[in-house]
Amino acid sequence: MPSRRIARTQAKKAALLQAQQEEAALYGPPAPQAEEEEEDLADEFARKVVIKDIVAIPPHTQYQLATDQILHLFHRLFQSSFTDTTELQSTIQAVKTDLYNRDYLDAFDDDAKRLAYLIRWSSLRALSYASLMSSLTPIVEMISEYIIEEDEDEDCQCLLIGGGASAEIVGLAAIYGRMKEFCSTKDKPLQINVMDVSDWGSIVTQVTNEINTLGWIRQVPDTRPQQFITNYLKNDVLTYFNGVPEKDDTAISLANQKLITLLFTTNELFQEDKSKSIQFFQRMNQECSPGTLLLIAESAGSYSNIQIGTKQFPVFFMIDMLLSNKKSELKKAGSGKKSKTPEAYDGAWELVESSDSCWYRVDKESQDFYSSRLENIKLENMRFFFRLYRKL
Ligand SMILES: C[S@@+](CC[C@H](N)C(=O)[O-])C[C@H]1O[C@@H](n2cnc3c(N)ncnc32)[C@H](O)[C@@H]1O
Repeated sequence: MPSRRIARTQAKKAALLQAQQEEAALYGPPAPQAEEEEEDLADEFARKVVIKDIVAIPPHTQYQLATDQILHLFHRLFQSSFTDTTELQSTIQAVKTDLYNRDYLDAFDDDAKRLAYLIRWSSLRALSYASLMSSLTPIVEMISEYIIEEDEDEDCQCLLIGGGASAEIVGLAAIYGRMKEFCSTKDKPLQINVMDVSDWGSIVTQVTNEINTLGWIRQVPDTRPQQFITNYLKNDVLTYFNGVPEKDDTAISLANQKLITLLFTTNELFQEDKSKSIQFFQRMNQECSPGTLLLIAESAGSYSNIQIGTKQFPVFFMIDMLLSNKKSELKKAGSGKKSKTPEAYDGAWELVESSDSCWYRVDKESQDFYSSRLENIKLENMRFFFRLYRKL
């Protein structure tokens, strides 16, 4: 009979395989890995990572607008840009092919492709982010306290890094809109800074206009200025905050953000430039104000592994090290070389909520709502890990 340790390792290998299959269903299969590397990975997983219980977030919560309101917004984007679902399907197919071939620039080289991506993929992500963020009490409290706060000069800025595809914008608007129902006579605009290296500016404007046109943010009287404001910054986050500050009036600072999100983006940053990504996390350690919330989510599968020294680790291992003052473990995990600035790893964040494997399952009503309007568009369940940190 296999020992418990072997059984656990086998279970984790099976979990990895399942995650890869889920990702393959979304974007096509990942590049094949050498068998030896896979063994190594599974062993690392078994030894280094304590996998917490699988948890699930609900299809929706009481602190967000209804899921059919969210899906209606994506359906309106479809109606404004495509003549029929056949045209949408062929554009989605073109995006899928580019993503499968990892031609990321080609995948998003015009607005039709970007909108097709939103309708096909960001719709599901928006549902899950609305549920995730509204399931996290510190985020709900941050927004509701700001809305009821008497001081009208106080602003509330959020920074959505890698948020050009707009899922987190819609998710956050769905929460803010729900909260604002109870306080519709006050001027309490939420300023959403969206920083993305790609050309999503016109799409973000279109999504923002839809949110305001649909009246998600209730205002009494309704002639008052719109309260959901997005500020799109087409920038590389790894240079924007790491470079010498030489910025104009429109520049944003980490110190002014109440909430920062990195949703399905951290892994890309580490793939692009590991040392600049580490520097960026160090910048957040140094510059974010006490109380700032930082939400990170990433695929729970092996897509989210990064190389440290000669080993592969889930990216959240690295994040936990950088934000939680565990420099000795980081050094051990890496090549063993001593850091020139060890104090730079001293994070000052407390981990508030987390899961190493969390499901968002689409409910039947949402699925029926969407597929009755958009033939052949299926909203798949999704599995991810997340971390919510608060700056001390
Ligand atoms: C996998 S997509 C995730 C999109 C969205 N956050 C979501 O969860 O649906 C990663 C996003 O990060 C952006 N990105 C990648 N590298 C970046 C960088 N260095 N600076 C800013 N954005 C970046 C990409 O353009 C892309 O929009």
